[in-house]
Amino acid sequence: MASFVADLLSDTLTRPTDAMREAMARADVGDDVFGEDPTVAALEERVAALLGHEAALFAPTGSMANQLGLRLHVAPGQEMVADQQAHVVRAELGAAAAFSGITSRTWPSVRGLLDPAGPMSLVTTGVGPYQVETALVVVENTHNFGGGTVQPIEAIREVRSATRPSGVAMHLDGARLWNAHVASGVSLAEYGSQFDTVSVCLSKGLGAPVGSVLVGSAEAMAEARIWRKRYGGGMRQVGILAAAGLHALEHHVERLADDHARARRFADACAEAAPGTVDPATVETNIVVLDVGAAGLTAAQFVDALLGHGVRTYAVGPRAVRLVWHLDVDDAGTDAAVAAAREVLSAS
Ligand SMILES: Cc1ncc(COP(=O)(O)O)c(C=O)c1O
Repeated sequence: MASFVADLLSDTLTRPTDAMREAMARADVGDDVFGEDPTVAALEERVAALLGHEAALFAPTGSMANQLGLRLHVAPGQEMVADQQAHVVRAELGAAAAFSGITSRTWPSVRGLLDPAGPMSLVTTGVGPYQVETALVVVENTHNFGGGTVQPIEAIREVRSATRPSGVAMHLDGARLWNAHVASGVSLAEYGSQFDTVSVCLSKGLGAPVGSVLVGSAEAMAEARIWRKRYGGGMRQVGILAAAGLHALEHHVERLADDHARARRFADACAEAAPGTVDPATVETNIVVLDVGAAGLTAAQFVDALLGHGVRTYAVGPRAVRLVWHLDVDDAGTDAAVAAAREVLSAS
Protein backbone atom coordinates (compact mmCIF):
# COMPACT_ATOMS: atom_id res chain seq x y z
CA MET A 1 0.00 0.00 0.00
CA ALA A 2 1.39 3.38 -1.02
CA SER A 3 1.98 5.78 1.81
CA PHE A 4 1.96 9.55 1.55
CA VAL A 5 3.11 12.42 3.74
CA ALA A 6 -0.36 13.84 3.13
CA ASP A 7 -3.06 12.01 1.20
CA LEU A 8 -5.48 14.70 0.07
CA LEU A 9 -7.19 12.69 -2.66
CA SER A 10 -10.50 12.35 -0.80
CA ASP A 11 -12.07 12.33 2.65
CA THR A 12 -13.27 8.79 1.94
CA LEU A 13 -9.73 7.46 2.50
CA THR A 14 -9.75 7.52 6.29
CA ARG A 15 -9.07 4.33 8.19
CA PRO A 16 -11.06 3.60 11.35
CA THR A 17 -9.29 4.80 14.49
CA ASP A 18 -8.44 2.32 17.24
CA ALA A 19 -11.30 3.65 19.36
CA MET A 20 -13.72 3.23 16.46
CA ARG A 21 -12.51 -0.34 15.89
CA GLU A 22 -13.10 -1.06 19.57
CA ALA A 23 -16.63 0.30 19.36
CA MET A 24 -17.23 -1.89 16.31
CA ALA A 25 -15.88 -4.98 18.06
CA ARG A 26 -18.14 -4.40 21.07
CA ALA A 27 -21.30 -3.74 19.04
CA ASP A 28 -24.46 -5.61 19.95
CA VAL A 29 -25.86 -7.07 16.71
CA GLY A 30 -28.85 -8.89 15.25
CA ASP A 31 -30.31 -9.54 11.80
CA ASP A 32 -31.20 -6.12 10.46
CA VAL A 33 -33.28 -7.50 7.57
CA PHE A 34 -35.62 -8.71 10.33
CA GLY A 35 -35.26 -5.31 12.05
CA GLU A 36 -33.40 -6.98 14.94
CA ASP A 37 -30.08 -5.16 15.07
CA PRO A 38 -30.13 -2.89 18.13
CA THR A 39 -27.08 -0.89 17.08
CA VAL A 40 -28.55 -0.10 13.67
CA ALA A 41 -31.80 0.89 15.37
CA ALA A 42 -29.86 3.18 17.73
CA LEU A 43 -28.01 4.79 14.82
CA GLU A 44 -31.22 5.32 12.83
CA GLU A 45 -32.93 6.83 15.84
CA ARG A 46 -30.01 9.14 16.54
CA VAL A 47 -29.66 10.44 12.99
CA ALA A 48 -33.42 10.94 12.60
CA ALA A 49 -33.42 12.96 15.84
CA LEU A 50 -30.41 15.05 14.82
CA LEU A 51 -32.09 15.98 11.54
CA GLY A 52 -35.54 16.46 13.08
CA HIS A 53 -37.22 13.69 11.06
CA GLU A 54 -39.51 10.86 12.12
CA ALA A 55 -37.46 7.91 10.93
CA ALA A 56 -34.24 6.83 9.26
CA LEU A 57 -32.78 3.98 7.25
CA PHE A 58 -29.17 2.78 7.26
CA ALA A 59 -27.77 2.27 3.76
CA PRO A 60 -24.43 0.89 2.60
CA THR A 61 -23.54 3.95 0.49
CA GLY A 62 -24.44 7.57 -0.06
CA SER A 63 -25.40 6.73 -3.62
CA MET A 64 -27.94 4.16 -2.44
CA ALA A 65 -29.34 6.53 0.20
CA ASN A 66 -29.73 9.21 -2.48
CA GLN A 67 -31.31 6.84 -4.98
CA LEU A 68 -33.80 5.58 -2.40
CA GLY A 69 -34.69 9.20 -1.62
CA LEU A 70 -35.15 10.16 -5.26
CA ARG A 71 -37.41 7.26 -6.10
CA LEU A 72 -39.69 8.00 -3.15
CA HIS A 73 -40.58 11.36 -4.69
CA VAL A 74 -40.43 10.95 -8.45
CA ALA A 75 -42.65 8.64 -10.53
CA PRO A 76 -41.20 7.13 -13.74
CA GLY A 77 -41.21 9.76 -16.47
CA GLN A 78 -41.38 12.69 -14.06
CA GLU A 79 -38.33 14.85 -13.49
CA MET A 80 -35.97 15.97 -10.81
CA VAL A 81 -34.00 19.19 -11.09
CA ALA A 82 -30.52 19.63 -9.65
CA ASP A 83 -27.31 21.60 -9.95
CA GLN A 84 -25.31 20.85 -13.11
CA GLN A 85 -22.43 19.51 -10.99
CA ALA A 86 -24.57 17.60 -8.47
CA HIS A 87 -23.35 14.16 -7.41
CA VAL A 88 -26.78 12.69 -8.23
CA VAL A 89 -26.48 13.74 -11.87
CA ARG A 90 -22.71 13.46 -12.44
CA ALA A 91 -21.44 10.66 -10.27
CA GLU A 92 -24.20 8.11 -9.67
CA LEU A 93 -23.83 6.78 -13.21
CA GLY A 94 -27.36 7.53 -14.38
CA ALA A 95 -28.91 5.57 -11.49
CA ALA A 96 -31.98 7.82 -11.28
CA ALA A 97 -32.80 7.04 -14.91
CA ALA A 98 -31.63 3.43 -14.85
CA PHE A 99 -33.45 2.38 -11.66
CA SER A 100 -36.38 4.76 -11.38
CA GLY A 101 -37.14 6.12 -14.88
CA ILE A 102 -36.41 9.64 -13.66
CA THR A 103 -35.58 12.39 -16.16
CA SER A 104 -33.33 15.23 -15.01
CA ARG A 105 -32.75 18.86 -15.84
CA THR A 106 -29.98 20.90 -14.33
CA TRP A 107 -29.23 24.51 -13.53
CA PRO A 108 -25.79 26.15 -13.85
CA SER A 109 -24.01 27.59 -10.84
CA VAL A 110 -20.76 29.09 -9.68
CA ARG A 111 -18.98 26.72 -7.25
CA GLY A 112 -22.26 24.84 -6.84
CA LEU A 113 -23.67 27.71 -4.76
CA LEU A 114 -27.47 27.56 -4.65
CA ASP A 115 -29.17 30.57 -6.22
CA PRO A 116 -32.95 30.05 -5.93
CA ALA A 117 -33.32 31.41 -9.48
CA GLY A 118 -31.59 28.23 -10.73
CA PRO A 119 -34.17 25.66 -9.62
CA MET A 120 -37.05 28.10 -10.01
CA SER A 121 -36.21 28.62 -13.69
CA LEU A 122 -36.73 24.89 -14.22
CA VAL A 123 -39.54 23.78 -11.91
CA THR A 124 -42.60 23.07 -14.06
CA THR A 125 -45.92 21.97 -12.61
CA GLY A 126 -49.56 21.90 -13.68
CA VAL A 127 -48.72 21.22 -17.32
CA GLY A 128 -51.07 18.25 -17.65
CA PRO A 129 -50.21 15.84 -20.44
CA TYR A 130 -48.09 18.30 -22.41
CA GLN A 131 -44.76 18.62 -20.62
CA VAL A 132 -42.76 16.76 -18.03
CA GLU A 133 -43.85 17.55 -14.46
CA THR A 134 -41.17 18.43 -11.93
CA ALA A 135 -41.55 16.28 -8.81
CA LEU A 136 -38.32 16.99 -6.97
CA VAL A 137 -35.62 19.58 -6.35
CA VAL A 138 -32.27 18.14 -5.18
CA VAL A 139 -29.81 20.29 -3.21
CA GLU A 140 -26.27 19.18 -2.31
CA ASN A 141 -24.75 20.56 0.90
CA THR A 142 -21.82 20.90 1.03
CA HIS A 143 -21.32 20.85 -2.71
CA ASN A 144 -18.56 18.38 -3.55
CA PHE A 145 -17.56 19.30 -7.11
CA GLY A 146 -18.20 22.95 -6.27
CA GLY A 147 -15.34 22.76 -3.74
CA GLY A 148 -17.09 22.14 -0.42
CA THR A 149 -19.49 25.05 -0.85
CA VAL A 150 -21.94 25.62 2.01
CA GLN A 151 -25.50 26.34 0.85
CA PRO A 152 -27.02 29.39 2.55
CA ILE A 153 -30.03 28.40 4.63
CA GLU A 154 -31.88 31.50 3.34
CA ALA A 155 -31.55 30.29 -0.27
CA ILE A 156 -32.77 26.82 0.72
CA ARG A 157 -35.76 28.32 2.56
CA GLU A 158 -36.61 30.44 -0.48
CA VAL A 159 -36.71 27.41 -2.78
CA ARG A 160 -38.75 25.49 -0.21
CA SER A 161 -41.40 28.16 0.15
CA ALA A 162 -41.62 28.72 -3.61
CA THR A 163 -42.06 25.01 -4.39
CA ARG A 164 -44.18 23.89 -1.43
CA PRO A 165 -47.55 25.16 -2.77
CA SER A 166 -47.20 23.07 -5.93
CA GLY A 167 -46.28 19.93 -3.97
CA VAL A 168 -42.76 19.63 -5.39
CA ALA A 169 -40.63 17.65 -2.93
CA MET A 170 -37.07 18.46 -1.83
CA HIS A 171 -34.24 16.01 -1.21
CA LEU A 172 -30.95 17.00 0.39
CA ASP A 173 -27.78 15.17 -0.61
CA GLY A 174 -26.07 15.83 2.69
CA ALA A 175 -23.07 13.56 2.23
CA ARG A 176 -21.08 16.37 3.90
CA LEU A 177 -23.90 18.08 5.79
CA TRP A 178 -21.77 17.72 8.94
CA ASN A 179 -19.18 20.03 7.38
CA ALA A 180 -21.87 22.56 6.41
CA HIS A 181 -23.25 22.48 9.96
CA VAL A 182 -19.83 23.00 11.59
CA ALA A 183 -18.82 25.75 9.12
CA SER A 184 -22.09 27.71 9.22
CA GLY A 185 -23.33 27.06 12.75
CA VAL A 186 -26.77 26.24 11.28
CA SER A 187 -28.14 23.24 13.15
CA LEU A 188 -28.63 19.91 11.44
CA ALA A 189 -32.31 20.08 12.37
CA GLU A 190 -32.68 23.49 10.75
CA TYR A 191 -31.25 22.13 7.50
CA GLY A 192 -33.35 18.99 7.88
CA SER A 193 -36.57 20.97 8.36
CA GLN A 194 -36.46 22.24 4.78
CA PHE A 195 -36.42 18.80 3.13
CA ASP A 196 -38.70 15.79 2.73
CA THR A 197 -35.72 13.45 2.76
CA VAL A 198 -32.05 13.88 3.62
CA SER A 199 -29.13 11.53 3.02
CA VAL A 200 -25.99 11.85 5.13
CA CYS A 201 -22.70 9.95 4.88
CA LEU A 202 -20.72 8.52 7.79
CA SER A 203 -17.84 7.41 5.57
CA LYS A 204 -16.51 10.81 4.48
CA GLY A 205 -15.35 13.49 6.93
CA LEU A 206 -16.70 11.49 9.87
CA GLY A 207 -14.23 8.69 9.24
CA ALA A 208 -16.43 5.58 9.41
CA PRO A 209 -15.43 2.83 6.98
CA VAL A 210 -18.90 2.43 5.44
CA GLY A 211 -22.39 3.77 5.76
CA SER A 212 -24.97 6.40 5.02
CA VAL A 213 -28.36 7.20 6.48
CA LEU A 214 -31.55 8.40 4.80
CA VAL A 215 -34.13 10.24 6.90
CA GLY A 216 -37.75 11.16 6.24
CA SER A 217 -41.26 10.36 7.43
CA ALA A 218 -41.97 6.95 8.99
CA GLU A 219 -44.12 6.08 5.98
CA ALA A 220 -41.41 7.08 3.49
CA MET A 221 -38.75 5.12 5.38
CA ALA A 222 -40.95 2.02 5.45
CA GLU A 223 -41.17 2.22 1.67
CA ALA A 224 -37.45 2.93 1.35
CA ARG A 225 -36.79 -0.21 3.42
CA ILE A 226 -38.62 -2.29 0.83
CA TRP A 227 -36.66 -0.70 -2.03
CA ARG A 228 -33.37 -1.10 -0.18
CA LYS A 229 -34.01 -4.86 0.01
CA ARG A 230 -35.04 -4.91 -3.66
CA TYR A 231 -31.75 -3.19 -4.58
CA GLY A 232 -29.84 -5.85 -2.65
CA GLY A 233 -29.04 -3.52 0.21
CA GLY A 234 -30.61 -5.52 3.05
CA MET A 235 -27.75 -6.20 5.46
CA ARG A 236 -27.60 -8.66 8.33
CA GLN A 237 -25.43 -8.20 11.49
CA VAL A 238 -24.56 -4.74 10.34
CA GLY A 239 -24.52 -3.21 13.80
CA ILE A 240 -20.74 -3.61 13.52
CA LEU A 241 -20.81 -0.83 10.91
CA ALA A 242 -23.53 1.19 12.61
CA ALA A 243 -21.33 1.24 15.74
CA ALA A 244 -18.62 2.97 13.71
CA GLY A 245 -21.20 5.57 12.67
CA LEU A 246 -22.39 6.12 16.25
CA HIS A 247 -18.78 6.49 17.40
CA ALA A 248 -18.13 9.01 14.60
CA LEU A 249 -21.19 11.07 15.55
CA GLU A 250 -19.95 11.19 19.11
CA HIS A 251 -16.30 12.02 18.42
CA HIS A 252 -15.74 13.27 14.88
CA VAL A 253 -18.25 16.02 14.15
CA GLU A 254 -16.89 19.04 16.03
CA ARG A 255 -13.31 18.23 14.96
CA LEU A 256 -14.29 18.91 11.33
CA ALA A 257 -13.45 22.54 12.18
CA ASP A 258 -9.77 21.43 12.26
CA ASP A 259 -10.04 20.11 8.70
CA HIS A 260 -11.62 23.39 7.62
CA ALA A 261 -8.88 25.47 9.25
CA ARG A 262 -6.14 23.33 7.64
CA ALA A 263 -7.74 23.61 4.21
CA ARG A 264 -7.97 27.39 4.62
CA ARG A 265 -4.33 27.61 5.76
CA PHE A 266 -3.28 25.70 2.64
CA ALA A 267 -5.40 27.99 0.42
CA ASP A 268 -3.91 31.10 2.04
CA ALA A 269 -0.40 29.82 1.28
CA CYS A 270 -1.25 29.04 -2.36
CA ALA A 271 -2.91 32.42 -2.89
CA GLU A 272 0.20 34.08 -1.52
CA ALA A 273 2.64 31.96 -3.58
CA ALA A 274 0.63 32.22 -6.81
CA PRO A 275 -2.15 34.81 -6.80
CA GLY A 276 -5.16 33.73 -8.83
CA THR A 277 -4.85 30.02 -8.08
CA VAL A 278 -7.50 30.19 -5.36
CA ASP A 279 -9.59 32.74 -3.50
CA PRO A 280 -9.23 31.64 0.14
CA ALA A 281 -12.60 33.22 0.95
CA THR A 282 -14.24 30.49 -1.15
CA VAL A 283 -12.68 27.74 0.97
CA GLU A 284 -15.51 27.26 3.44
CA THR A 285 -14.98 23.67 4.50
CA ASN A 286 -12.51 20.81 3.90
CA ILE A 287 -12.11 21.04 0.11
CA VAL A 288 -9.74 23.25 -1.89
CA VAL A 289 -9.91 23.51 -5.67
CA LEU A 290 -6.82 25.14 -7.17
CA ASP A 291 -6.71 26.70 -10.62
CA VAL A 292 -3.08 25.77 -11.26
CA GLY A 293 -3.44 27.15 -14.79
CA ALA A 294 -3.18 30.59 -13.17
CA ALA A 295 0.38 29.59 -12.22
CA GLY A 296 1.15 28.34 -15.73
CA LEU A 297 0.81 24.64 -14.87
CA THR A 298 -1.44 21.87 -16.08
CA ALA A 299 -3.31 19.89 -13.46
CA ALA A 300 -1.30 16.78 -14.38
CA GLN A 301 2.00 18.63 -13.89
CA PHE A 302 0.93 19.90 -10.47
CA VAL A 303 -0.38 16.50 -9.33
CA ASP A 304 2.87 14.81 -10.42
CA ALA A 305 5.06 17.45 -8.81
CA LEU A 306 3.22 17.16 -5.48
CA LEU A 307 3.40 13.37 -5.63
CA GLY A 308 7.17 13.81 -5.81
CA HIS A 309 6.86 15.42 -2.35
CA GLY A 310 4.66 12.60 -1.06
CA VAL A 311 1.46 14.65 -1.30
CA ARG A 312 -1.41 13.07 -3.25
CA THR A 313 -3.96 15.36 -4.93
CA TYR A 314 -6.58 14.91 -7.64
CA ALA A 315 -6.85 16.52 -11.09
CA VAL A 316 -10.50 17.43 -11.60
CA GLY A 317 -10.02 19.31 -14.88
CA PRO A 318 -7.23 20.27 -17.30
CA ARG A 319 -6.13 23.07 -14.96
CA ALA A 320 -8.04 22.31 -11.77
CA VAL A 321 -6.77 20.24 -8.84
CA ARG A 322 -8.82 19.21 -5.80
CA LEU A 323 -7.43 18.63 -2.30
CA VAL A 324 -9.57 17.30 0.53
CA TRP A 325 -8.73 17.45 4.26
CA HIS A 326 -9.86 14.73 6.65
CA LEU A 327 -9.24 12.83 9.87
CA ASP A 328 -5.96 11.31 8.66
CA VAL A 329 -4.25 14.59 7.69
CA ASP A 330 -2.88 16.47 10.69
CA ASP A 331 -0.97 19.75 11.09
CA ALA A 332 2.32 18.11 10.09
CA GLY A 333 0.75 16.70 6.91
CA THR A 334 -0.71 20.12 6.17
CA ASP A 335 2.70 21.76 6.70
CA ALA A 336 4.18 19.30 4.20
CA ALA A 337 1.44 20.02 1.66
CA VAL A 338 1.89 23.77 2.12
CA ALA A 339 5.66 23.54 1.64
CA ALA A 340 5.30 21.33 -1.46
CA ALA A 341 2.65 23.54 -3.07
CA ARG A 342 4.66 26.70 -2.32
CA GLU A 343 7.74 25.24 -3.96
CA VAL A 344 5.89 23.96 -7.05
CA LEU A 345 3.77 27.07 -7.57
CA SER A 346 6.65 29.51 -6.99
CA ALA A 347 8.93 27.65 -9.42
CA SER A 348 6.40 27.84 -12.26
C1 LIG B 1 -22.04 14.86 -2.49
C2 LIG B 1 -21.98 13.37 -2.52
N1 LIG B 1 -23.12 12.67 -2.51
C3 LIG B 1 -23.12 11.34 -2.52
C4 LIG B 1 -21.94 10.62 -2.56
C5 LIG B 1 -22.01 9.12 -2.65
O1 LIG B 1 -21.44 8.45 -1.62
P1 LIG B 1 -20.94 6.92 -1.83
O2 LIG B 1 -19.58 7.01 -2.44
O3 LIG B 1 -20.95 6.37 -0.45
O4 LIG B 1 -21.93 6.25 -2.73
C6 LIG B 1 -20.73 11.31 -2.57
C7 LIG B 1 -19.45 10.57 -2.62
O5 LIG B 1 -18.39 11.12 -2.71
C8 LIG B 1 -20.74 12.72 -2.56
O6 LIG B 1 -19.62 13.44 -2.59
